[in-house]
Amino acid sequence: MTYPQGAVRAFQYGLGIFALTAIIGLTNATKIIGDVNRDTLLTHLHSGTLGWITMGVFGLALALFGRNGSTVGPNVLLSALATAAYVLAFWSGNFYARALFGVVMLATIFGWWAWVLYRASAQGYGRLTNPQLSIVLGLTTLVIGSTLGVIVQILYATNNLNDQNAVLIGAHASAQVGGYLILVAAGVAEWILNPGGGRTRGGEIQSWLLFLAGLTLAIGFLANVQPLLIVSNVLQLVGIIMVAVRLGGRVLGAAWGAPTGARHAAITIPFMALGLVLLIALVQMTIAAQGDFSKVPPGFINALNHTMFVGLSTNMLFGAVLTLLADRPRVWPWADHVIFLGLNIGAASFIAVLIFVGTSAGSSPFSHPVAFTAPIMGLSVLLAIVTYEMRLAGAPAPMRVPAPA
Ligand code: HEM
Ligand code: HEM
Repeated sequence: MTYPQGAVRAFQYGLGIFALTAIIGLTNATKIIGDVNRDTLLTHLHSGTLGWITMGVFGLALALFGRNGSTVGPNVLLSALATAAYVLAFWSGNFYARALFGVVMLATIFGWWAWVLYRASAQGYGRLTNPQLSIVLGLTTLVIGSTLGVIVQILYATNNLNDQNAVLIGAHASAQVGGYLILVAAGVAEWILNPGGGRTRGGEIQSWLLFLAGLTLAIGFLANVQPLLIVSNVLQLVGIIMVAVRLGGRVLGAAWGAPTGARHAAITIPFMALGLVLLIALVQMTIAAQGDFSKVPPGFINALNHTMFVGLSTNMLFGAVLTLLADRPRVWPWADHVIFLGLNIGAASFIAVLIFVGTSAGSSPFSHPVAFTAPIMGLSVLLAIVTYEMRLAGAPAPMRVPAPA
């Protein structure tokens, strides 16, 4: 199997948009211009989740479902433009622009989902590999979560968002973070760590458990049904234990000192376990607060978010980029160790500060420990963007992946 050129393009665009995420993150961490405003925070958030993570997932969908190097699939440039437009609409603060471009973004996501479903059905459910099944179910959750997001956007634009329907925001965020991201990361980590692996009963059960965990979490928050939240935690726990058992040997045996994608894929598993502990704690806190999200400390939510966005998803995507480029000459070979160590030491220390000290919101420049931890992560991300962009620019089309998926 070969990597289609579209996958290379998707990573190039995704990394480009990720630069904005990192720059806003660095500004917000150091507080050199004080706290950034809500519109800018939402830009930071969705440039990361849609611009970087989801563009990368589109690239992975092409790699996993494309026909041996063919670029046939949804248009990558148009997808990147739709994403950039939506991210800028968040920054503009204009609710009409957000609603309009939110619909365009949802249509783009829907197009990718439909294409993946079409390719999967042509292949046959029984013949999907474990990573392919994770992508099919992950994109399904993404469609559901993004539909909720667009509904919120339309409620804002029509001035109809109120205390009752604001729960849609929590349902939107939990479907995406607790469902989509975990499912995709589990599948892609397996693809990188076990390249020749096909379909197993364990992998199939794991994917369905993680899928149902995301759905029950979102419905539980939406309808404020506490037993459903507990069910979600149990499904998630069993699903992630299955990931750990199935991939544990490969994680421990990964070449941690080698500058390949394997160590980035391997480290997603401890971050997934941490994310699970934080998700269970979040459910306990919201139950104690009778569903009132505002009582959960913001630092805690930010710790959970960065565990999922950086520790889990960014490591997964860096692992995929390095695997894609495995047999290419390495521009700046020294950068690989700096990126791996900086990203992970930075993320772990930033997350620990958010949990134990709390949010940096409202602090003055360089006065909060976030200012000394988050930049390690942010500068490593910027180094990765420059390094990987240079390497991707030299990638011939189509490229080989190490083994059939
Ligand atoms: C078409 C796609 C999407 C749309 C239309 C959308 C829309 C929205 C809207 C309207 C909000 C509320 C903003 C506010 O508070 O004013 C929001 C918040 C959020 N979104 Fe999205 N979003 C999308 C994709 C994603 C993705 C892919 C992720 C994660 C992987 C994500 C994660 C979040 C999170 C964590 C929040 C913050 C919730 C909170 O306030 O705690 N979104 N989104
Ligand atoms: C995919 C990547 C990322 C996503 C999706 C993301 C998302 C978020 C979200 C949702 C928030 C909370 C905003 C709010 O208060 O409503 C936030 C805050 C923050 N982010 Fe990120 N982020 C990402 C990467 C980064 C990076 C690379 C840095 C590097 C410096 C960073 C630094 C920060 C900082 C310092 C805060 C404020 C935390 C606090 O003190 O409470 N983020 N981010």
